[in-house]
Amino acid sequence: MAESVVNENGSGDDATRRDFIHIAAGAAAVGAGAVIAWPLINQMNPAADTLALASIEFDTGKVQEGQQVVITWQGKPVFVRNRTAAEIARAKADDHAGDLKEPQTDAERTKVGHEPTLVVIGSCTHLGCIPTFGTGDFGGWFCPCHGSHYDVAGRIRKGPAPKNLVVPDYEFTAGTTIKIG
Ligand code: FES
Repeated sequence: MAESVVNENGSGDDATRRDFIHIAAGAAAVGAGAVIAWPLINQMNPAADTLALASIEFDTGKVQEGQQVVITWQGKPVFVRNRTAAEIARAKADDHAGDLKEPQTDAERTKVGHEPTLVVIGSCTHLGCIPTFGTGDFGGWFCPCHGSHYDVAGRIRKGPAPKNLVVPDYEFTAGTTIKIG
């Protein structure tokens, strides 16, 4: 069916009118797309509180010898442990133990000059349970969910977990203060 419209001059001009309709419809579609896309794009930006926690500082001097403190970084528990001399010696003695699934020396998991301090993400590398401190066959942590044993360097020694507890990126900034992330 032929479309018949009358333009502002009062004369029929089908071609011009159709062009206008198409252009107007296209502009409306783009406009709607922009309105819908903005909230999606905006959602992909990190929230302000996430940015604020991209890195955190903690004074490891607050952790008593032989104890750990659990802090939260980016929504994850982080174990900050102050190891005793006996625990450090035990960790180093096991540097080349045959049951290490992910061989790493104690020195590779700590910072030079700060051997007592061990910092690891408190999430079992099997399915993410939170291991319990100072338990298990190796005196490090034990994950009760399926029975994974970690040593005092946070290395997996027994059970289904495939990897060592993860050491996050961190550095000592001043004295006993560390910055994680
Ligand atoms: Fe830790 Fe399965 S989640 S052993």
